[in-house]
Order: sequence, then C-alpha cells, then structure tokens
Amino acid sequence: MSQPALFEPFTLRGVTMRNRIWVAPMCQYSCFDENGIIGDWHFAHLGSFAIGGAGLVIAEATGVTPEGRITPRCPGLWNDEQMAAWKRVVDFIVSRGAVAGIQLAHAGRKGSDAPPFDYDGKSGTVQVVDGGWQSVAPSPIAYPGHDMPHELTVDEINEIVTAWADAARRAVVAGFRVIEVHAAHGYLLHEFLSPLSNERTDDYGGALENRARMLLEVTAAIRAAIGEEIALFIRFSATDWADGGWNEQETSIVADWALEHGADLADISAGGNISGVKISVGPGYQVPLAMYVKEHSHIPVTTVGLITEPTMANDIVESGKADAVMIGREMLRDPHFALRAAAELGADISYWPGQYEWARPRKS
Ligand SMILES: Cc1cc2nc3c(=O)[nH]c(=O)nc-3n(C[C@H](O)[C@H](O)[C@H](O)COP(=O)(O)O)c2cc1C
Repeated sequence: MSQPALFEPFTLRGVTMRNRIWVAPMCQYSCFDENGIIGDWHFAHLGSFAIGGAGLVIAEATGVTPEGRITPRCPGLWNDEQMAAWKRVVDFIVSRGAVAGIQLAHAGRKGSDAPPFDYDGKSGTVQVVDGGWQSVAPSPIAYPGHDMPHELTVDEINEIVTAWADAARRAVVAGFRVIEVHAAHGYLLHEFLSPLSNERTDDYGGALENRARMLLEVTAAIRAAIGEEIALFIRFSATDWADGGWNEQETSIVADWALEHGADLADISAGGNISGVKISVGPGYQVPLAMYVKEHSHIPVTTVGLITEPTMANDIVESGKADAVMIGREMLRDPHFALRAAAELGADISYWPGQYEWARPRKS
C-alpha cells in the first residue's frame, strides 16, 4: 500500500528518518544548574516525541562553549559530563525508532540572556557577577535589550570553529546521527551572514563570501570531525525581513556553498536578527522561503513555522515544496502529533507503541 508522502522515509548519508515529521529544536532553559548538563526534564520532553512517532527529534540550541549559550540554564556540549547526560536521552530516542539530532549553537550577541522563567524574576542581560558572561559578535552592535558585545578577533573566531567541531565529535559519541548548525535567529553565525550586524572590514565582513566564511569553516570542520555517515543540517533564517538585510537570494547561494563544504540539508526558518520588523504571520508562512531555496539551490530543505495540521504537512511534502516539515509548538501541545497524523492520513505505520495499542484508531 502506498503511504502518504509525509510518511515516506527519508535518507541522508547513512541516516534514515522513518517519516518526514521532524521535531524542531526548542530551548527549554532547564538545566539543573549553570553547568550546561541536561536531566530528567529533557529525558521526558524529548523522549515523548520519539514515543509519539516523529522521524527525527532535534534537541535544542546547545552551546559549543559556555559563552555560546543563550542563557545560563541552556545546555552545552563542551565537556564529557554533558555528553554522558545527552547519551541517556539519545539511547531512549533511538530505542523508540526515531533519529536523534542536536542543534549546536553559539548565541553571539544574544547570549548571557536571562531565562524566561524561574530565574529570580531577573530579565535582560545577566551580568558577569550574577553568573553571566561578556557576549561576542562580528561587530560591536548591540541587539536591543542586550549589552554591547565584544568584537571577535580572528583568533577567537578560530577557537569557536574548533569548539563547534569538538562539540560535534562529542555529539556523535553520544549517539546523535543528525547535527544541526544554528545559523539562524540572530545568533552568532547569522550575525556574520547579515550585513546589518556585520560591519567588519577583514576577511569575515563585506562581500558575501566573507560574511559566509565562518559558517563554511564551521561546516567543513564539523564534517571532518563526524565522518561521512552522519547527516549535517544548517538552520538558516532565510531573511531578516528588513531592507538591506540578509535575504533568500543570499541564503540560496550560501546553502549551495555549505553543501560543497559537507552540509546535507538546509532547515529554512526566518528572522531574529533585527528587532521590531513587520512579519505577516499565518499558517505555513515560511513555506515560500523554503520553496525559494529549494528552487534556487541544490540542497534538500525543510520548512518550519505554524504547521499544525497533518493534511497541511502532507501537502507541503507531497507537492515538493519541502522535503520534510519541522514542527515546534504543535509538538509541545501534542507530542504524539505523528501518531495523530498517521491516523488522520491513513498511514500504515509499524511504530505505534505496543503500550498504546488500545488507543490506536481502528479501521471500520
Ligand atoms: C519554546 C521554543 C524554543 C525554541 N528554541 C529554538 C532553538 O533552540 N533553536 C531554534 O533554531 N529555534 C528555536 N525555536 C523556534 C522553533 O524551532 C520553530 O522554528 C518556531 O517555533 C516556529 O515553528 P512552530 O510554529 O511550529 O512552533 C523555539 C521555539 C519555541 C516555541
């Protein structure tokens, strides 16, 4: 029996996702402490998506260095203790037949932010005396509501590239089979890509190949660290939604360059680098951006943003607008979205959990 397109497996390198319903990375601000080590919250949170039938579960933005975290409660992968904590979660995800992925990130000028809840009521930049850190960026341009970042030297850029590769190596040891580089939402690599946040006059600023240099160095370093079997995604914001900013044309060009440097897929999101821009938000509002990149580059793409209905998700994949869908908030409302989608679309899946068999919709 032929399956709905959403339930066709998808293979990149040595990694096969059982369907095209993938969990988008979502920060949880829930490490026990300021040590970047995940715990039971992450086990239950990420594990539930694997029980719920998702093909790929991508763990949240995870700092490649302590200063690369968004908040002091965000996770890291700069040491082996953090790696061991991730392994427990990964083992469970894999035991349920899903692929485990992790988004490796550096928050740049948006780092050292206060977590949005349970942080003694503090908000804005966490100061060094309170356990925060000096944020960094391509240029000394502050993001509104954040303190002024330190302009990275070339030596410091090189150190961060190495940290990204080291974190990717640890991710593979922990069992992750998909590594996603966070180059979106106004974090460090997006800050380099966008002319609105990068005013450098050295090899990392100005022309497109200079603004893309750090991302491509990170991509190549990770590919060298993880071997040929692991899939490597790049999450892009395809537009700053601002005049003179980063846009889908440049995204398509850089996505192809990333492909040449060892990336396998472009995860197309948008925005986050420029505050206060007007965005027309509605169901599937970022799908045209993914379509644009798919049409103008050679890399497979995913789309994300207000995809909440199984039929809509299936239409996107069936019509070739994107190769898979990433789902964020709808997964928080219903971690078993993929099981629901299978029932609604009439997909014949082998991974309905035996424990939940009595809840399986019956064909009449
Ligand atoms: C709680 C929460 C945390 C998020 N954290 C991340 C993150 O760590 N990395 C990232 O690239 N996007 C992050 N996002 C954005 C989502 O991955 C997704 O792109 C966005 O929510 C739009 O998809 P949706 O409409 O399906 O939620 C987060 C979103 C939410 C709701």
